[in-house]
Amino acid sequence: MAQIFHPSMNILAKVSIFGAIFIIAGLALAMGAFVRSSYVTQVNVVREQPVPFSHQHHVRDLGLDCRYCHSDAERSASAGIPSTEICMGCHSQIWPDAEVLRPVRDSLRTGEPLRWTRVHDLPDFVYFNHQIHVAKGIGCESCHGRVDEMPLMHRTASLHMDWCVECHRHPELAVRSTDDLFRFGRNQMTLGGVSLQPTIGTASATQQGLHDQPAAHHSAGDSVHRLSAETPASGPDLVAKYGIVTRQLTDCVVCHR
Ligand code: HEC
Ligand code: HEC
Ligand code: HEC
Ligand code: HEC
Ligand code: HEC
Repeated sequence: MAQIFHPSMNILAKVSIFGAIFIIAGLALAMGAFVRSSYVTQVNVVREQPVPFSHQHHVRDLGLDCRYCHSDAERSASAGIPSTEICMGCHSQIWPDAEVLRPVRDSLRTGEPLRWTRVHDLPDFVYFNHQIHVAKGIGCESCHGRVDEMPLMHRTASLHMDWCVECHRHPELAVRSTDDLFRFGRNQMTLGGVSLQPTIGTASATQQGLHDQPAAHHSAGDSVHRLSAETPASGPDLVAKYGIVTRQLTDCVVCHR
């Protein structure tokens, strides 16, 4: 077959195809960066709400459990948002005339629910379920971060597919004992417990002899004592205990049904 193009055209074509690939790769990288930016993921972005509700105040300072307002998390797909009646259970007495709580009082009077802006919202083609995660030892903190330190709610995770799948591959890194599901700052607690061991094992501790050990235990806080009374179960042990089967957890149909 006769050549249609002069051989030098071939080089030109190769160069431009090569160039095009670079341009496409560059665009893909830029798109990736855009998709991962907080503009798209909404990580750390605070939404306008009818009332500036503070989780830090109600959870950390007042000591309310998540289930006081989101008890559905344990028994259904969605965690739910508390009704006006739950707020007014306290706020009919506490700060009954505060201006900031006027929308809550109006809502009770008119029966019109408060319109909270969603902070976490998956696309409709993704299936998600709170109950199963809680039942299998995934705590609120693993997906929502330090809610107890949020004056205003914001996201701490992208909720992108990679994020879900990463944990579905390695649930042993996140899984907790049932007592810890609604606790926050567990990482610090566990590190506190573990940090005792290196102290005992280091050269200086060995040089000083064994009498350092009780001192190390004594100086540690209550949480360390609680943890050392019962050795924390390791991730793989808990994965076995909850009967988590990681083999099927990354199948497309798990989240796209
Ligand atoms: C006194 C009631 C109350 C308690 C207790 C409470 N919350 Fe909330 N929570 C709310 C209200 C009201 C909203 C909606 C307003 C907002 O987003 O801040 C909300 C919103 C949220 C959201 C975001 C919902 C969305 O729009 O995506 C998450 C996540 C959440 N709470 C987690 C928790 C966790 C975890 C705990 C326990 C540490 C907890 N909450 C305790 C009342 C409560
Ligand atoms: C268990 C009782 C209790 C419940 C339930 C409760 N609150 Fe409160 N709330 C309080 C107390 C106590 C204060 C703090 C008063 C103070 O600082 O003296 C407070 C303070 C507030 C404030 C003032 C700003 C701040 O956080 O410092 C807002 C706004 C508020 N609550 C909204 C709500 C809303 C909305 C709900 C329902 C989702 C709710 N609260 C449910 C007890 C409660
Ligand atoms: C495995 C990750 C994960 C865990 C664990 C988790 N959540 Fe969520 N949560 C999400 C996702 C994803 C959404 C958004 C769901 C949607 O858009 O359908 C969400 C949404 C919410 C909402 C908004 C209302 C709703 O149900 O959509 C609240 C409130 C909430 N979570 C509270 C909690 C509480 C309280 C806990 C602990 C008991 C918890 N979550 C544990 C991932 C998680
Ligand atoms: C921090 C860990 C973690 C994250 C993050 C996580 N999951 Fe899971 N997910 C689990 C574990 C553990 C199970 C329980 C598996 C089992 O039943 O053995 C589970 C189960 C599920 C199931 C039920 C599977 C079944 O048995 O039918 C669905 C659906 C699911 N996850 C969707 C999601 C989606 C969607 C996201 C992201 C928005 C997500 N998960 C994020 C750990 C996680
Ligand atoms: C653990 C849950 C989970 C599994 C497993 C999963 N996905 Fe997804 N997928 C998601 C979530 C969450 C989103 C939404 C991402 C977003 O909003 O950015 C998504 C989005 C998508 C999209 C839309 C484009 C995008 O990336 O946003 C496609 C296409 C898709 N998934 C295909 C698949 C295929 C094919 C598989 C199997 C290889 C799969 N998914 C497995 C959770 C999952």
